[in-house]
Amino acid sequence: MIKTVILPIEADKISEGTEDKNIELAADILKEGGIVAIPTETVYGLAANALNPDAVKKIFEAKGRPQDNPLIVHISSFDMADKLLAQTMPQKAKKLAEKFWPGPLTMIFSKSDVVPYETSGGLDTVAVRFPSHPIAHAIIEKSNLPIAAPSANLSGKPSPTTAQHCIDDLTGKVDAIVCGGNCGVGIESTVISFAQEPPVLLRPGAVTAEMITEVIGKINIHEAVYSQLTSNEKATSPGMKYKHYAPDANLILIESDCEKFAVYVNEHAADDTYAMCFDEDIPFLKTKYISYGSANDADEQGERLFEVLREFNDIGAKTIYAHCPNKTGVDLAVYNRIVRAT
Ligand code: TXA
Ligand code: MG
Repeated sequence: MIKTVILPIEADKISEGTEDKNIELAADILKEGGIVAIPTETVYGLAANALNPDAVKKIFEAKGRPQDNPLIVHISSFDMADKLLAQTMPQKAKKLAEKFWPGPLTMIFSKSDVVPYETSGGLDTVAVRFPSHPIAHAIIEKSNLPIAAPSANLSGKPSPTTAQHCIDDLTGKVDAIVCGGNCGVGIESTVISFAQEPPVLLRPGAVTAEMITEVIGKINIHEAVYSQLTSNEKATSPGMKYKHYAPDANLILIESDCEKFAVYVNEHAADDTYAMCFDEDIPFLKTKYISYGSANDADEQGERLFEVLREFNDIGAKTIYAHCPNKTGVDLAVYNRIVRAT
């Protein structure tokens, strides 16, 4: 057990340019090789100096994360990105950076020698992301270091979207937790790899495949985005092969309209059985339920999803019937996370 310091910071004040000594404290811990949970616009991340192998190892230990699962390196300026790459950024990636950075988009490139293999999970590539959250931005800028940060959950648990989720998972395991409010997007960043041409979408997120195609033309979407990898398939992104977000319950995904969803769930009602439904399903349901938003509001579903999965754990759900979202736009990201939780 290590002593975990709680550092409250108000995001609104940071956006207005107010100085906060807790930003400096968090940056100091990172400079000294410690690990700190910090809010980003997607989910909370567990941060360390990406260039310090010993600091990075602490992240893997705290999360219980397999060592071959590489970390995303977070930056606060375009210059910082250049130093991490073996070559200059490909033109198409530059276009995406200009359009979507800072924001929930991670891009993978050949790495330069400054990035240790501890950070890249033994790969010759590095994943780079420029977060837009004012607190994440301020801490990276203050530390003046590229910051490795996976989602700040215990490995296999739903990603944390509130400071309380980090406190629940990581107290006694990390040097500090920054409490900076709830994450707006709620699902992790889009991941696209420029290690091949055309680029490959490895993880869908709030920057959608459609938005990317509009800027750079054709991309491929990795088949694992739509399904669980079977054990004999090769994982392009090491994260694909691990079970994710696992709720304690058995989660069953149901693709149908509201009435048929409700008929099925009502027929299978039992004591510890719940519906993970849309608001529109509620009038038809005779079982216990938690809604994860409106069927037509993918942003709301993304914001609520991980919180709802954690709520099911808290109430001891044994079986969850989840109403399947669409598979386009931001809904593809929501769909992908639910499939990984089944
Ligand atoms: O929104 C996010 O991206 C959050 C916040 C904290 O920034 N971070 C996050 O990190 O989701 P993590 O580690 O939970 O997910 C990163 C995913 C993993 O599936 C990992 O395997 C993949 O990105 N990844 C990282 N570096 C890679 C690389 N060089 N090649 C292929 N996949 C990579
Ligand atoms: Mg994660």
